[in-house]
Amino acid sequence: LPTHFTLNNGKKIPSVGLGTWQSPPGQVRDAVEAAIRAGYRHIDCAWGYQNEHEVGEGIKASGVPREEIFVTSKLFEFHHNPEHVRKAINHSLSRFGLEYLDLYLMHWPVALEPEVKGDDLPLAPKKKANGKPQVNKDLSDNVLPTWREMEKLVDEGLVKSIGISNFNIRRTRALLKECRIKPVTDQVELSFTCPQPDLIAWLKKNDIVPQAYSPLGSTGASHASLKEIDTLAKKHGVEGANILISWQVARGCNPLPKSVTASRIANNAKLVNLTKEEVDELEKAALSQQKKRVCDQSDDFDYDIFEENHPENNDA
Ligand code: A2P
Repeated sequence: LPTHFTLNNGKKIPSVGLGTWQSPPGQVRDAVEAAIRAGYRHIDCAWGYQNEHEVGEGIKASGVPREEIFVTSKLFEFHHNPEHVRKAINHSLSRFGLEYLDLYLMHWPVALEPEVKGDDLPLAPKKKANGKPQVNKDLSDNVLPTWREMEKLVDEGLVKSIGISNFNIRRTRALLKECRIKPVTDQVELSFTCPQPDLIAWLKKNDIVPQAYSPLGSTGASHASLKEIDTLAKKHGVEGANILISWQVARGCNPLPKSVTASRIANNAKLVNLTKEEVDELEKAALSQQKKRVCDQSDDFDYDIFEENHPENNDA
């Protein structure tokens, strides 16, 4: 299995990265340090996870030079407008204590109206009367004005690459038509109960690397002990997590397993060479599962993020 994927701008991304979503405060620094010591060279993070400062500390504590580590962060939903992109990246960089990021993603295709207080970076969304965050429909339906500001960050060297997250085919296609710099990745939920083969095929056809968040089934790693996974794990003498992570790499996706447990972090970096038959069997078994998305805020926002029934999402 590949140790790296090549992005559409020629840069390389390590094929497994440490996820940090839902890593509790106070544990992320040690998790990042443990991961780098165990050989990881790719850490996935986001402004919204509120742990960039700990990730930065973990990187420093590892003693490994900055340029050897691939660091990702993401533009949060209430910073998703042309005016706040620069403030948001500067805030992220200063929290990490880094001069540049390897990858900066538009975290969601949804732009939330920010609660603006003076010139500072907004720290909360504006709320509607019903308490739900207010979506900026124009900037969500057309992300280009925000993307243009992200493109400038590449020009200036503040970030090496830019990408998207939680984008479906329709939204990605619309962005590809107009962008100057193409997104290098689309980071989406990809797991045994959310395999999304059509989206993956479409992204690969368009030279965009699919990145997999929640590859183990999210909190509790609910997929690692499923019968199909366990049988293969026993056959290869590994843990269920290794099968799930290796399967994602084998199907050309970039898994970002989250753990704050040093032994699991070290274990999860070990890829298993699955046979083509095993990969095909896993693909088939995944498709037969009841589809389950762990992460979907559509109801919270009264906005259809994934547009599952939109006809333009079905022509992969
Ligand atoms: P913890 O962080 O306490 O070690 P995902 O990557 O799909 O979001 O899954 C994250 C969940 O999987 C976390 O609850 C994490 O627990 C758990 N986890 C990570 N690696 C393993 C492993 N090798 N075996 C079992 N559970 C794991």
